[in-house]
Amino acid sequence: MLPYGRRPLPTSLHEAFLLLFFLSFLPQHGGVEVNLSSFRTFTPPEGGLTHLVVHNKTGEVYVGAVNWIYKLSSNLTKLRSHVTGPVVDNEKCYPPPGVQSCPHELSQTSNVNKLLLLDSGQNRLIACGSTSQGICQFLRLDDLFKLGEPHHRKEHYLSSVSEAGTMSGVVISGAQGEDSGKLFVGTPIEGKSEYFPTLSSRKLMANEENAEMFSFVYQDEFVSSQLKIPSDTLSKFPTFDIYYVYGFSSEQFIYYLTLQLDTQLTSPDASGEQFFTSKIVRLCVDDPKFYSYVEFPIGCTKDGVEYRLVQDAYLSRPGAKLARSLGISEQEEVLFTVFAQGQKNRAKPPKESALCLFTLRKIKEKIKERIQSCYRGEGKLSLPWLLNKELNCINSPLQIDDNFCGQDFNQPLGGTTTIEGFPLFLDKDDGMTSVAAYDYRGHTVAFTGTRGGRMKKILVNSITQPALLYENVVVSEGNPILRDMLFSPDHQYIYTLTDEEVRRVPVESCEQYSSCSECLASGDPHCGWCVLHSVCSRKDRCERADEPQRFASRLEQCVRLMVQPNNISVTMSEVQLVLQAQNVPSLAAGINCSFEDYTETEGHIMGGRIYCLSPSAREIAPITRNQGDKRVVKLYLKSRETGKKFASVDFVFYNCSVHQSCLSCVNGSFPCHWCKYRHMCTHNANDCSFQEGRVNMSEDCPQILPSTQIYIPVGVMKPITLLARNLPQPQSGQRNYECIFYIQGKEYSVTALRFNSTSIQCQKTMLRTQEMNRTG
Ligand SMILES: *[C@@H]1O[C@H](CO)[C@@H](O)[C@H](O)[C@H]1NC(C)=O
Ligand SMILES: *[C@@H]1O[C@H](CO)[C@@H](O)[C@H](O)[C@H]1NC(C)=O
Ligand SMILES: *[C@@H]1O[C@H](CO)[C@@H](O)[C@H](O)[C@H]1NC(C)=O
Ligand SMILES: *[C@@H]1O[C@H](CO)[C@@H](O)[C@H](O)[C@H]1NC(C)=O
Ligand SMILES: *[C@@H]1O[C@H](CO)[C@@H](O)[C@H](O)[C@H]1NC(C)=O
Ligand SMILES: *[C@@H]1O[C@H](CO)[C@@H](O)[C@H](O)[C@H]1NC(C)=O
Ligand SMILES: *[C@@H]1O[C@H](CO)[C@@H](O)[C@H](O)[C@H]1NC(C)=O
Ligand SMILES: *[C@@H]1O[C@H](CO)[C@@H](O)[C@H](O)[C@H]1NC(C)=O
Ligand SMILES: *[C@@H]1O[C@H](CO)[C@@H](O)[C@H](O)[C@H]1NC(C)=O
Repeated sequence: MLPYGRRPLPTSLHEAFLLLFFLSFLPQHGGVEVNLSSFRTFTPPEGGLTHLVVHNKTGEVYVGAVNWIYKLSSNLTKLRSHVTGPVVDNEKCYPPPGVQSCPHELSQTSNVNKLLLLDSGQNRLIACGSTSQGICQFLRLDDLFKLGEPHHRKEHYLSSVSEAGTMSGVVISGAQGEDSGKLFVGTPIEGKSEYFPTLSSRKLMANEENAEMFSFVYQDEFVSSQLKIPSDTLSKFPTFDIYYVYGFSSEQFIYYLTLQLDTQLTSPDASGEQFFTSKIVRLCVDDPKFYSYVEFPIGCTKDGVEYRLVQDAYLSRPGAKLARSLGISEQEEVLFTVFAQGQKNRAKPPKESALCLFTLRKIKEKIKERIQSCYRGEGKLSLPWLLNKELNCINSPLQIDDNFCGQDFNQPLGGTTTIEGFPLFLDKDDGMTSVAAYDYRGHTVAFTGTRGGRMKKILVNSITQPALLYENVVVSEGNPILRDMLFSPDHQYIYTLTDEEVRRVPVESCEQYSSCSECLASGDPHCGWCVLHSVCSRKDRCERADEPQRFASRLEQCVRLMVQPNNISVTMSEVQLVLQAQNVPSLAAGINCSFEDYTETEGHIMGGRIYCLSPSAREIAPITRNQGDKRVVKLYLKSRETGKKFASVDFVFYNCSVHQSCLSCVNGSFPCHWCKYRHMCTHNANDCSFQEGRVNMSEDCPQILPSTQIYIPVGVMKPITLLARNLPQPQSGQRNYECIFYIQGKEYSVTALRFNSTSIQCQKTMLRTQEMNRTG
């Protein structure tokens, strides 16, 4: 006989499978999948998207694509579009066919947007393409009206390379009243160093028709604001080029992160394997002669493995916690950077990738030390790709401080050691392609896009503790996320770009967590539990969140509820229940108790406790119908202020009447009584007709003790005596004992004689008996 109340173990295949499914599903993705279709999307029919910028005041989004520029509202509805191609062109025509007739065959050529920059000071967009040797258009921000497209002079041609994502530009607005700003541009040149500098600073004129547009900020016979890849380097390494992954300005400097052939590791022999290196390049904004040019190898090492292929970077400021861990102020800038593993394969980097962090302070420090040591006359300029001979550093008694911007000697300068970042997070499966980060209430959150079209959300509050991947969202299944991943100005959304679509992804999806513990265990620093509304949300989306205990931001602050008693018999109704709730805000607006969806009663608050009545008998019956010996229901507290159930506790209705044997009746978890004479189980002992017939302990149950099998020769009549326990004395009006035999499916009964409470005898027993079943 199974002890009552205990369930068999879940051995069925189905349950075991479900268990496995949950185990393998949960930890891998570190969270619940959110509903993709709730993200807003822009998907132009032609695809070919390459760049994205977000206006930091209007929140409007500008998208560069093959042959198109789009202007979108912040919710990604298309507001304007502008055609940039195809163009009748041939890459070999220099100058382009529109300027001078060209001997090469012309054809309709797609114009790939390679550079998309906001020049908000002049209310215009700068969009540079791949056709006509890489000329640029100026488009009015409001309506994409074409303000100009300078294309007559060689300075207007930036580069004919058609690969998007290799060029990078930084706009420096002109000082008040000045007619021109500056554009710093870095670009690969596909070997055409006689046509295009790889790095330059150009004049950005207020008037698009101004002949000075894009001319070098400085130019004389000997020097100009440009850097060319030397032809010696190109003849030794014909594929040598510099790919500009990210550019930014900070203080009085311009920085670029680049990928380029490593001329130290790669042998000039064209058939040999190629190695690449990432560099950080720095120039002073106000150094028209580029004497301030310094570059350093940059990378990141984790567990002895090098990550040296820069994929993307994002300049940001650390949240309070990260700043403390770095030992810097929250105002200082940091650079989040994604690298792929190793130094091979620029075009198809390995999927093993690392998110790393640099402080600008450390980068500046390394650069300053390098300049200082060179000005002490130590070592060489160490820039083999740019200087084809080794030049010694020249000793000079100059004072080198943070603001030093170079002299005509001891430049350009290369770093000999790699600037190493702090590795924060490794992704070995999907290949990170892009990164953005920001500070949310002291927590630093990094978002990385991947080649598989996912977005990983990573909490980075320390450089010594591992970063926490707390969510991994499918954004564009199977499509690599491109570099331009940008926040909306209010930081509520992040825009992602793939070749096919722009998506607006909420920075958090707190609403996916349906309980306080799930919400706060998720690790998402945006999320907290809005108690009386019973939703997981940002603090600013929770009404009156600043009042005590209305918004839980730590697991220990989740509401806890207890009820006394926590179980009643189905025969008891309107029992006074006493509830105690921890971590609840003021409930002065009133409270109701609800038993799942069945009934609701009004609660009363007295002395910090809540009093509710259990349901009436009429209400209990539908709750417990066909539910076996017990029904566990959720007892909810419902706020009358919000009408929301905000706390719950398990409550049990038990039904003694379900039990049909003494043992299961009295040996369960609930106080049931067995009436020996009436053969029934009841919550109320008074239901038993005879006082002596009540049993409430298993030892007092009537039972036949197990005996060995008894064999009787066929045809011989013989009484059988059985040992038993607690056999009650039949009372007046009750029949005597009977023995019932089941033989080959048939039932036979014979009268039985009770000797005393431990012994009984079946009379006149014939045939071979199998087993005694019961007495009655
Ligand atoms: C996802 O969200 C959309 C729009 O908000 C809704 O129509 C759809 O039913 C949701 N799908 C799922 C599976 O929740
Ligand atoms: C918007 O961008 C411009 C140009 O980059 C910058 O000067 C300005 O401070 C930014 N404004 C805000 C609100 O971020
Ligand atoms: C999207 O934004 C536009 C312009 O701001 C607005 O007119 C439109 O109603 C918005 N659409 C949705 C679905 O929010
Ligand atoms: C049922 O409630 C009583 C009274 O509160 C309590 O002592 C007992 O432990 C409860 N039984 C179960 C199984 O929860
Ligand atoms: C209790 O169980 C008995 C026997 O199964 C059933 O007839 C009765 O309806 C149940 N009572 C309630 C309130 O569920
Ligand atoms: C609370 O319960 C009372 C009594 O059952 C009911 O009349 C009232 O509508 C309930 N209030 C809310 C907010 O559900
Ligand atoms: C009654 O239950 C207890 C504990 O659940 C168990 O140890 C005991 O053996 C049971 N008694 C009988 C007669 O099944
Ligand atoms: C059983 O019933 C007796 C008498 O009614 C009572 O004294 C005793 O406490 C009960 N025992 C249990 C385990 O309920
Ligand atoms: C019960 O009756 C049997 C059979 O007559 C006898 O052997 C046994 O000793 C009796 N037990 C008690 C406790 O009287």
